[in-house]
Amino acid sequence: MSNLVILGAQWGDESKGKLTDVFAENADIVARYQGGDNAGHTIVLGDKTFILHLIPSGILRPETINVIGNGVVVNLETLFGEIDRLHAQGIAVSSENLKISDRAHLILPYHKTVEQWEQMGSGTKIGTTARGIGPTYADKMNRHAGVRIGDLLEFDNFRKKLDYNLDTKADALQLGGVDRHILLDTYRGYAARLAPYVTDTVAFMHEALAAEKRILFEGAQGTMLDIDFGTYPYVTSSNCTAGAVCTGLGIGPKAIAKVMGVSKAYVTRVGGGPFPTEMHPDLDEKIRDIGQEYGATTQRPRRCGWLDLVALRYAARINGFTAIAMTKLDVFDTLDELQVCVAYRYQGKERTTFPSSLQVLDECKPVYETLPGWQQPLTEARASEDIPQRTRDYVAYVEAYLNVPIPIISVGPDRAQIVTLDASHVNLR
Ligand code: GDP
Ligand code: IMO
Ligand code: MG
Repeated sequence: MSNLVILGAQWGDESKGKLTDVFAENADIVARYQGGDNAGHTIVLGDKTFILHLIPSGILRPETINVIGNGVVVNLETLFGEIDRLHAQGIAVSSENLKISDRAHLILPYHKTVEQWEQMGSGTKIGTTARGIGPTYADKMNRHAGVRIGDLLEFDNFRKKLDYNLDTKADALQLGGVDRHILLDTYRGYAARLAPYVTDTVAFMHEALAAEKRILFEGAQGTMLDIDFGTYPYVTSSNCTAGAVCTGLGIGPKAIAKVMGVSKAYVTRVGGGPFPTEMHPDLDEKIRDIGQEYGATTQRPRRCGWLDLVALRYAARINGFTAIAMTKLDVFDTLDELQVCVAYRYQGKERTTFPSSLQVLDECKPVYETLPGWQQPLTEARASEDIPQRTRDYVAYVEAYLNVPIPIISVGPDRAQIVTLDASHVNLR
């Protein structure tokens, strides 16, 4: 068994999509298990760029079957838009290569309105993607209000749930934009289009496991945005950590062999919330410019910071990383010095654990180690021998701190811009 989880080790946008696409070459199945269309996963193939919000990043591999598990929240407008865009880009999506869980919850148009309403009444500016993610997961947990994909296929159930929701959310819906008749008509059409994709994905995954299919589990968001372990309340509304693979697909932990965390060589964060290693504005702008750090879903500028090893070790512990893929090393090509945060200074003492209190975190000042830059371009590197010693030293420093191997690095957005430093850790066969 060689099933592999690929998930975000930081605050999202670590290049999970690219890594998943690379590993999907040898995978039979790629499955998403949490999040929704708040995700934006970019894959670059030559002059073609694909941005996927809901469909797993195995879709560009013709032989790979893609699964949207029960833990995902599904916006059907986004889904069909994505299927149509992929078709226009020459990628076939059908019920053969895309299976969607009947247990997954639906994001409905009123969820965005509720999100807007809640934001208006709250002093906390989370800076969400405004996709209705929070209200949809809240409805799921609340049990009375949640609408599952299976309900849509039993349309009377859908109609009843819709009436309940429009009634109980009437305050928020004063903001407008949701019409019961239009919604019913639209979703009747969606139900017909969706039906072929709807699958008992629990049974599907277990048949695949029994047949020893090679499975990749693709995370969305990142560890520091996890509802339990992230910088609450500046987080998303799902568990983005490895445990969610089991609950978001209905498989046991023994079905997972390896967990690969994806980490940039630095850190970015989009939206509000604490960010201990955020760079000085001049450097922040420079890194954003070189790394093209703009949100794939909302186009917002991403805040940039130095690599935070306190946060990364916290992520390694929570997820049980067996390896880390380090991405965007090329963004550092021109810098003469690099900083890595090795501890936080709090009330005069150094600490290396990540605090739960935002007040404590706010008082934590990063303690940096300075490492030399390599000052040569990495973007053409393809083999381990092409990587300069100083880049290796940077990677080795992080490996030693975390005690987790970094067998694979990314040196540019393209599928081909990847270098395997140690093949023994990255074999999916
Ligand atoms: P994801 O959400 O984790 O899949 O990541 P995103 O797609 O949101 O953001 C990663 C961005 O960096 C995308 O624009 C990628 O095309 C780009 N990218 C991926 N790997 C590299 C890399 O190694 N170097 C550079 N310069 N860009 C990369
Ligand atoms: P991928 O999968 C980066 C952030 C939002 C906001 C917070 C809550 O591409 O890495 P939400 O809409 O989920 O309620 O917003 O989480 N966020 C992401 N940041 N990458 C993502 O996904 C994100 N998905 C949500 O910016 O701070
Ligand atoms: Mg992204």
